[in-house]
Amino acid sequence: MAPAATKALCALARRVRSFSNSHIALKPLCAAVPSERSVKVAVVGLGYVGLPLAAAVAATGANVVGIDIDPEKVESVNAGRSPLRGHEPGLDDLVREQVAKGRLRASMDPKTASSADVVAVCVETPIDPATHDPSYKALKVAIAEVGPHLKSGALVSIESTLAPGTMDGFVRPALERASRRTVGRDLHLVHCPERLTAGKLLHHLTELPRVLGANDRPALRKGLAFYARFVKAEIHPTDWTTAEVVKTAENAYWDVQIAFANEVALISEELGVDAYRVRELVNTCPYRMMLIPGAGVGGHCIPKDPWLLVSPAVQTKPELIPTAREVNDFMPRRMARLVEEALAAAGRKIKGARVAVLGFAYRENTDDTRNTPAKPMIQELRRRGADVAIHDPFARSERGYAVLRDVKAALRGADCVAIVTAHDAYRTLDLKTLRRGMRHHAIVDGRNVYAGPDIVKMGFVYRGIGKGQF
Ligand SMILES: NC(=O)c1ccc[n+]([C@@H]2O[C@H](COP(=O)([O-])OP(=O)(O)OC[C@H]3O[C@@H](n4cnc5c(N)ncnc54)[C@H](O)[C@@H]3O)[C@@H](O)[C@H]2O)c1
Repeated sequence: MAPAATKALCALARRVRSFSNSHIALKPLCAAVPSERSVKVAVVGLGYVGLPLAAAVAATGANVVGIDIDPEKVESVNAGRSPLRGHEPGLDDLVREQVAKGRLRASMDPKTASSADVVAVCVETPIDPATHDPSYKALKVAIAEVGPHLKSGALVSIESTLAPGTMDGFVRPALERASRRTVGRDLHLVHCPERLTAGKLLHHLTELPRVLGANDRPALRKGLAFYARFVKAEIHPTDWTTAEVVKTAENAYWDVQIAFANEVALISEELGVDAYRVRELVNTCPYRMMLIPGAGVGGHCIPKDPWLLVSPAVQTKPELIPTAREVNDFMPRRMARLVEEALAAAGRKIKGARVAVLGFAYRENTDDTRNTPAKPMIQELRRRGADVAIHDPFARSERGYAVLRDVKAALRGADCVAIVTAHDAYRTLDLKTLRRGMRHHAIVDGRNVYAGPDIVKMGFVYRGIGKGQF
């Protein structure tokens, strides 16, 4: 047993605070650290969660295989390249280094999990767009494919976000069926939901506290030993269902807070005051931490995790959480309306107007377009007759959404610019020069990227989410 790892785990066990499973004693945890070099890890799903996990675990000396059904991702990782675009500090270098050292490789073959001591499942868990019910297609397939190859005594950690009750009602039976092994006896199962955010993947992976759901002591011991390898913050043990509720509740909480900021923004616009100044002043009152409003909420997690929390498994009739979703889903349509207003103020009808949408990714400085508010906004602009040009420095084109890389080309002949994503590149645009290539001069700022009065001085009409008129 590696002394450094033992020391780390013992220190970790001492730091564990919110320990609710009183039947699980802490002391024997110190005996649970596997030898650093001998650990074999399979990470199923090499997306925003699985790739940094695989690379970070490999950097601890483990032998890691990343399994994915996407051949491009597998090829890219094996060539030592991160398949993620956007700005992910440290990730490209770490992937390159770990692949070069032979500690990290990728495969499409689920059999490669057969020698793994730890299998971390990081596949997507979306919702059905129409019903908002959880859709566990990828999880089901991943368990069915990897399950038969699991060795006795392996730790399986589900990192994907789950609706409450899914570990007990779906994951455990599916895993037992696929592996023909019994959880708690031949296999150890934990739920350790991921908390990271695109743009800060590695930093969040290692620095944020984790919640580790385990329903028995051996699983908890193994889970703590695994996560202690790379998590520098506290690891809070609990049971499966509590971990499920915590993860979905933390994102639902965020969504509700953003909805509040967005509602204050809509009120501020109507009253002609600046919601960002309102927020600053609100937050001078103790214990108020109002968030910033914006053009809409996107990403794989925040728009869907609230629905997982209130999924059909829960009988309580939810009101606040779905209402917050509605408020946030309205913001892209509000953006389209602001474009129409700005165009009118600049003397142009929206029908036939060219609108340059700046930002297609949902989050600044990333390529992540999942549930991006840019799409519903563009759809609404097109519905109103606008001709839309899309620019993004990182995001790729998708069917119906051709993304330009050249901002000049996007603004050439435009009647209005609409900022959806606060990419750094947009803060430093030479608007004076770009203005010359535009037909009409209107800017709609969905992310508080510009100071309204400065933009007006340059000769633009300026509108924005949460902004009064200038
Ligand atoms: N993206 C985030 O910032 C974030 C943060 C916290 C939690 N989560 C949660 O983590 C989970 C994964 O999210 P993500 O953003 O990494 O998703 P992602 O879509 O980026 O990655 C999922 C990967 O799994 C692969 N995959 C799907 N089915 C597979 C199978 N049967 N076998 C092997 N690979 C398979 C996909 O090809 C894809 O590469 C989700 O439950 C999500 O809610 C995501």
